[in-house]
Amino acid sequence: MCGGTVLKDKYGKEIEDILSRYPVKRSALIPLLYVAQRDQGYVTESAMQEIAALLRLTPPQVYETITFYTMFNLKPVGRFHLQVCKSLMCALVGSDTVLEWINAKLGIAPGETTADGLFSLSVVECLAACGTGPMMMINDDYYEQLTKDKLDRILSDLRSTGTSSLKTGPFMWPEPTPAERAREA
Ligand code: FES
Repeated sequence: MCGGTVLKDKYGKEIEDILSRYPVKRSALIPLLYVAQRDQGYVTESAMQEIAALLRLTPPQVYETITFYTMFNLKPVGRFHLQVCKSLMCALVGSDTVLEWINAKLGIAPGETTADGLFSLSVVECLAACGTGPMMMINDDYYEQLTKDKLDRILSDLRSTGTSSLKTGPFMWPEPTPAERAREA
């Protein structure tokens, strides 16, 4: 097995810093996977092998961690990765409907990417915003209490400016004040 040293050559100092934080090497697995994913947008097979060698793990041990967590991609994704929560609380308030809206608007189902490479769609497990569903994450941003109008505006904002003021950050708690809501409207 040889995964090369691409990550180490590019991110040597960062990798050393990460490794120094963990007395048990294998504990650095997830932070190193984030480094690999940031590099290519997904975790390549050679990155998996390189990380396995760094941590003295087998490639299957690395692979099983990647496939357990939905935040890691095993293939390239679009510029905007829509990750719709399908866990119970969001399912009860309409995550299936959100997927239908996305399908109608972008023509993609979970696991697919639009032909222009802009949008990919995945379904994921609970993202800890259960009180403000239905919700999704796009790249690192949260979008909560989704409605069809909100979704249309988010997609249009992303296409035109690369971001949207409708994002709510990692956790929308406490609830936004009326003034904040007015600014969003
Ligand atoms: S169930 Fe969707 S965020 Fe928890």
